[in-house]
Amino acid sequence: MTPAPLESFDNDPSVGATVLTEDQIAERIAELGVELTADYRDERPLLVCVLRGAYAFLTDLARHIDLPVEVDFIAVSSYGASTRTSGVVRLVKDLDVDLTDRHVVLVEDIVDTGLTLRYLRRSLEARGPASLEVCTLLARESADLEGLGVRYVGFTIPGEFVIGYGLDVDERYRNMRHIAVYVDPGV
Ligand code: IMP
Repeated sequence: MTPAPLESFDNDPSVGATVLTEDQIAERIAELGVELTADYRDERPLLVCVLRGAYAFLTDLARHIDLPVEVDFIAVSSYGASTRTSGVVRLVKDLDVDLTDRHVVLVEDIVDTGLTLRYLRRSLEARGPASLEVCTLLARESADLEGLGVRYVGFTIPGEFVIGYGLDVDERYRNMRHIAVYVDPGV
């Protein structure tokens, strides 16, 4: 059977200017891996992936951490099928692992308003971890990273909605290898 061709994003008018290339993403994640390996030496950190946007980041990051890491997954919803936050965060899937006395690293795709992160931090801190740090691939320039206690940041980006490398619009573009500005066809 002939395999179906891979979806091409080259001629998609909704895929705008490149924000980060595949190489830039890979290089920065390798650096973050080195940093986390040093900071968590002699520990067995638990990487908590915030689904679904952070799945690509988590898999690449975990493979750059030279320690016995564990992974678990949590899912929240605040955007639905739109590019604007609904302002309400809802837990869609909870963790399986008990966080008591664990060194937890919350792995996020992007910190925008910080609403999701504030919700998750409150929920995870209540479970008694030994430590809780946040590692996000992207953060908006406007985000109060200090106030939100974000320790590891891949890249800081401006306000435009972006897609690719895990980030979606209505469940599309997650499998695009680079990160690009989303061009809304309705505008
Ligand atoms: P916050 O709660 O406003 O910080 O939004 C964080 C969540 O919104 C992220 O985990 C993403 O799922 C989603 N999000 C925010 N900005 C973007 C974007 O530019 N592209 C795709 N998803 C985004």
